[in-house]
Amino acid sequence: MYTRQEIAPEKIEEQREICRRVRRLFPEGEVHRALVDTYGCQQNESDSEILRGWLRDMGYAMTEREEEADVIVVNTCAIREHAEMRVFGNVGSLIHLKRRKPELVVAVCGCMAQKEEIRQRIKNSYRLVDLCFGPHEVWRFPELLEQALAVHGKSGNQGRVFAALPCEGVVAEDLPRLRAGGVKAWLAIMNGCNNYCSYCIVPYVRGRERSRRFADVLREAEGLIAAGYKDITLLGQNVNSYGRDLAGNGDFPELLRAVSALPGDFRLRFMTSHPKDATEKLFAAMGECEKCMPQLHLPVQSGSDRVLKAMNRGYTAEKYLQQIEAARAAVPGLVITTDMIVGFPGETEEDFQQTLALVEAVQFDSMFTFIYSRRPGTAAAKLPDNASREEIQDRFDRLTALANAISERRHAECAGEEYRVLIDGAEGTGAYNLTARTEGGRLVHLKGDAGRVGEFVTARITGSNTYSLFGEIE
Ligand code: 5AD
Ligand code: SF4
Repeated sequence: MYTRQEIAPEKIEEQREICRRVRRLFPEGEVHRALVDTYGCQQNESDSEILRGWLRDMGYAMTEREEEADVIVVNTCAIREHAEMRVFGNVGSLIHLKRRKPELVVAVCGCMAQKEEIRQRIKNSYRLVDLCFGPHEVWRFPELLEQALAVHGKSGNQGRVFAALPCEGVVAEDLPRLRAGGVKAWLAIMNGCNNYCSYCIVPYVRGRERSRRFADVLREAEGLIAAGYKDITLLGQNVNSYGRDLAGNGDFPELLRAVSALPGDFRLRFMTSHPKDATEKLFAAMGECEKCMPQLHLPVQSGSDRVLKAMNRGYTAEKYLQQIEAARAAVPGLVITTDMIVGFPGETEEDFQQTLALVEAVQFDSMFTFIYSRRPGTAAAKLPDNASREEIQDRFDRLTALANAISERRHAECAGEEYRVLIDGAEGTGAYNLTARTEGGRLVHLKGDAGRVGEFVTARITGSNTYSLFGEIE
């Protein structure tokens, strides 16, 4: 049984005091800059917002340019080997900068940093890294950075700070945050995962499921609405099990209703849902709450019952299809997306055909397709592979071709329709300078005044491709 570790407010206050101390290290008028580079999922994006919040409180200005940074934080993802290789490549390439600027502090954090073997590798082979800490340490980043600044440059390897306590999970409230943009906001409602899907590293690096209290989530949502955010996404590895770890706390559909009932002009979304826990109660809440958008990301991972069982997913293809039907019945205009893994150990051509059949049956609006990546320490890592790399690549290509054809067709069907969209960006290139989202979360490219970011408008769809729609503001 795991114990929830709530960080006392005094401990957070200590971190604030450290921020003030670090700020005093810099002479008046001297500008110090920090860069936070994020890999992986929205949960990591959310953690990076806290890291930036702490950095701001320590007196750092944010930059996107490595050359002008005094602190570079790389917030890593461990979900697939490819992501890890990219991190090692990019961290390694900072050596040139570090040679020119020895006082540069390089920090590696996030999911990779929670893994013992990765920390060893960084210790031994990436000596330019001054600070390394796991996701459970984000709440005390000021303390760690202060240590790194204090020992920095003095004694090479010995001066480096490594902090990634084996941890089941902390809950910390009232951390500072620096959010990007002013339209869309992530709101983390829980952390960690209890599911132990056999391929997945997340439960090992992010610890057990722990929910934030109802009142804390509502307070943060109110703050976001008051600050003008128009599109709020409730975040968790498995939002459907929200609240189960807290006696007397409401469940996820209740939270959805409560946030949705807050006054203000905003849209509400959530991710990610696990099919084993997505209930009719959830779909009913989605359908009934005016501010809850008709968007559901429901990762299925495979269409073969045999593979689903080996993945420890807790549902069958048939049950998944029933859920899709129930969700579509409860939520008109629902946009459904999914994640799919090909090449799981033991997957045969027949299993793969069942995956294709499921994709045909559901007609996902869009799909994220991944080639299975063996993660040491997970249950599936011990299973023997049977398909060759070429076979798996071929399955991947066939699956993406099918998924793309479906997305393209679904998008083409939107031509001539009018949608209520929220303009969320003005960084587009070419004639279509604005980006917007439909209620279902589809991306729409529009033309118009950059000053309209944050506005709700009606867009008439004039064109589309596999990934997005094009339209005109009415
Ligand atoms: N290999 C490939 N894909 C993976 N995912 C999680 N673990 C692995 C792995 N070991 C995918 C799943 C999940 C998404 C976030 O990443 O599809 O839903
Ligand atoms: Fe990557 Fe998973 Fe960590 Fe997100 S929680 S950063 S997907 S390993």
